[in-house]
Amino acid sequence: MIEKRLKTRSVGGTLALGQTIYELMLPAPRMVILSGELGAGKTTLVKGIAEAMVAAKSEDVTSPTFTLVHEYRGPKLRLYHLDLYRLETEQELLTLGLEEMESQPDALVLVEWGEKFPSVMQRARGAIAISHLEGDERAFMVRML
Ligand SMILES: Nc1ncnc2c1ncn2[C@@H]1O[C@H](COP(=O)(O)OP(=O)(O)O)[C@@H](O)[C@H]1O
Ligand SMILES: [Mg+2]
Repeated sequence: MIEKRLKTRSVGGTLALGQTIYELMLPAPRMVILSGELGAGKTTLVKGIAEAMVAAKSEDVTSPTFTLVHEYRGPKLRLYHLDLYRLETEQELLTLGLEEMESQPDALVLVEWGEKFPSVMQRARGAIAISHLEGDERAFMVRML
């Protein structure tokens, strides 16, 4: 288990942190829950990870709030970016095919608001909790199993 506490002071800092976090996950791609209040920086971190994976430019990564899932493909891994904010029941979650995404050995599955669902909590192999500090400061508590 890896545990790291990190901080950024700007959007650019969080985008760059994507590289560090990508490297932590690269040896064993997995499903990771991103938690933190609205505006904490979950989607911004995914932009940075997508760039580090060479899967997408940060400006092309947008919040999947309404579409629920976005998929990007890099040379090594594919990235599934989910936002479960609007989902209410485990039943609705079933229709997304999360198990299928997770079962791919080359898939990194990053789930915003995954902590709402016990089934996602049980299956996730990592969590990144983001807190909004003063102004543009953000703290990242990274745990990887
Ligand atoms: N250090 C920082 N890291 C990430 N976002 C920041 C930072 N400082 C300010 N922001 C702002 O906070 C917001 C984060 O939004 P977003 O990444 O969509 O959050 P979430 O997905 O957690 O709701 C953006 O408006 C961004 O410009
Ligand atoms: Mg978001």
